[in-house]
Amino acid sequence: THTSLPEKDCSSITPPYHELLDKLARVRQILDRPLSLAEKILYSHLIDPERSLGGGGRIRGEAYLQLKPDRVAMQDASAQMALLQFMSAGLDASAVPASIHCDHLIQAATGADADLQKSLVTNKEVFDFLESAAKKYGIEFWRPGSGIIHQIVLENYAAPGMLMLGTDSHTPNAGGLGMLAIGVGGADAVDAMTGTPWELKAPQLTGVHLTGKLNGWATPKDLILHLAGKLTVRGGTGRILEYFGPGVEDQSCTGLATIANMGAEVGATTSTFPYTSHMRSYLKATGRSGVAAAADMAAGHGFLSADKGTEYDEVIEINLSELEPTVNGPFTPDLATPVSRFGEFIESQGWKDEISSALIGSCTNSSYEDMTSVADLARQAKEAGLTAKVQFLCTPGSEQIRATMERDQVTEALEDVGATVLANACGPCIGQWKRDEKKGEENAIVTSFNRNFKSRNDGNNKTMNFLASPTIVTAMAFSGKLSFNPMTDSIPLPSGEMFKFSPPQGYKLPSEGFAAGDTSFYPSPSPAISPETQIVINPTSERLELLEPFGSHFGSHNPRGDELPSLKVLMRVRGKCTTDHISAAGPWLKYKGHLTNISENLLITATNDENGEMNVALDPEHDSTQTESDTIPSVAKRLKARNQPWALIVDDNYGEGSAREHAALQPRFYGCALIIARSFARIHETNLKKQGVLPLWFADKADYSRIGTGDVVETLGLSDLLNDSPHGQVTIRVVKPNGEEFTIATQHTMSADQLKWLKAGSALNHIRDST
Ligand code: F3S
Repeated sequence: THTSLPEKDCSSITPPYHELLDKLARVRQILDRPLSLAEKILYSHLIDPERSLGGGGRIRGEAYLQLKPDRVAMQDASAQMALLQFMSAGLDASAVPASIHCDHLIQAATGADADLQKSLVTNKEVFDFLESAAKKYGIEFWRPGSGIIHQIVLENYAAPGMLMLGTDSHTPNAGGLGMLAIGVGGADAVDAMTGTPWELKAPQLTGVHLTGKLNGWATPKDLILHLAGKLTVRGGTGRILEYFGPGVEDQSCTGLATIANMGAEVGATTSTFPYTSHMRSYLKATGRSGVAAAADMAAGHGFLSADKGTEYDEVIEINLSELEPTVNGPFTPDLATPVSRFGEFIESQGWKDEISSALIGSCTNSSYEDMTSVADLARQAKEAGLTAKVQFLCTPGSEQIRATMERDQVTEALEDVGATVLANACGPCIGQWKRDEKKGEENAIVTSFNRNFKSRNDGNNKTMNFLASPTIVTAMAFSGKLSFNPMTDSIPLPSGEMFKFSPPQGYKLPSEGFAAGDTSFYPSPSPAISPETQIVINPTSERLELLEPFGSHFGSHNPRGDELPSLKVLMRVRGKCTTDHISAAGPWLKYKGHLTNISENLLITATNDENGEMNVALDPEHDSTQTESDTIPSVAKRLKARNQPWALIVDDNYGEGSAREHAALQPRFYGCALIIARSFARIHETNLKKQGVLPLWFADKADYSRIGTGDVVETLGLSDLLNDSPHGQVTIRVVKPNGEEFTIATQHTMSADQLKWLKAGSALNHIRDST
């Protein structure tokens, strides 16, 4: 099965350039101004450019765009709930090409083969489920061992000018091929897969102007580490980073992917680059000459770069000639220190100048260029008689990379100096690292990964993770010291002589082409849809459960007709309540595909405003003295058992943080029908609407404190809304347990389509009912 890479059939992976160019012409007529690359890609994917852009108001940062993405990619952890939701829409196939990648669930312990075999056993039910769903709906299924989602997307699906959604925050990696790739929650992926318009607030644009030339030890990774230090972890929020200028052309496509990958660390929506000759070469080297030819045509029509005179909302200047290698961390990716000052920094903090492990690879940095550069250093060290001083691990991004490394003696060079090559999977990058020897101990690791939050890699919150380029990580592995600067420092040899590395030399692409590796991991191209396939879910499984469609709130069972039924207020939530507060992560992640089990974490870190306590709720019907409290999930469960739908009262910016759809699914699962907030985070508000929960905003924020546990709330005037009489307000009648009664005004943000979701019980019910 070890063959070299054949030319691919490009028909299903080439963006529909003619269609996009036609749309772009319409967009130009409406806007009549120079357009940036990101605007060209985004706006040419609008379902109705006149409707989204024709209003005459400000677009960037203001307008909501209804988009039609070209493709969806999902990783094994997030794909579970995405597919369970997709299944409940009752469609035969995904509306857009989609792929599933088994990468997050493979634990690194001893080495590639043993770890992979073990994960096949421990995650069998999840992999079987994903494979059966992929087969049924015509989705490409990349088996465990095939590699990491973002590397595989870059090698197989990414194409200049494409718009793609991925259920993983580092999806923007594909921007290295001059496209827009956006990380989303499962509910957004389901929008694309069901053909529902996908909504995005038009991002603002940060232009990053690159001049000069990288030299010596500086790499594209150092550029993004440096930029993260400048922008901080919030600097890119609501923005697309669009790179331009003479410094772009020199970089390899995979180097650009590294930069785009870590745009996620500054909170950017995504990052992109104009089409370059290195992108063309990469497309050809990965068997996609057809895509390259089509992209050349689109570039000829001005589609794949910014217009002259484009105005960005902000421009950052970076001179690549001045960049030096940078080390970021610990615990946050924006704490950037140039390597020449890193030793001083370590000393000033009083930390031990010692590394316990060095890790290279991951979706961020395992390109051929990265791997041949580190192999060069490994060979230099071997010649001097050195081996790695500390544990040295490498996770190849894909089977293609692994096989090419093996063929070109890169693996041999790494193993010769003591490195262990792990499975082609996320492994230590996502905490799938069995590392008992450092449990609870303060220690420092250096990695070429992208994130370094506490506990991320080995579950030990005392492990300091420093992010650097693969070559800096490798050089440090030989010195064992954090303060080591390979540009100036030497390593003593047993002979008493001193050894100094020469700057690493890598190759952008393999001269013999890429090796395909073990093709049994790969999906068949354009898989057939097999509707007869049985979805594999064991009814006794703790990790997977079929999603029962939520019932509509309206209909003959509801005596209030087209108003919501009378609702009991479960509690009033105080202050910050992010999607993490609503649906905690950590140990709960294993239940991502099992709504009943994961719902046991509902709001467990939310604070009850009436008693100031965390995860404490009262149930007046169960205990009229109101002295007995219980956990929030327990009270929610009791209300569900009593068939009593309920409401939540929440504070400002409710649901900020992420697109995690579980934060909307779980309250709905226990019977929540209404959430009244001082304000909502937009993505979460939309997710609530998708699941059939009505989000309302207090017209007067002071009314928040007037409603509490055990009150009955009723909508007045919702029926007008549902029956096509759109107006902005919904009145709420509040009846206190002592009989006191009053009304308050609330605002809604429901569009006509979203009202149909509410009426049907969920967006997916609506899709199912209308097909
Ligand atoms: Fe996997 Fe880490 Fe990338 S979790 S997708 S290797 S960021």
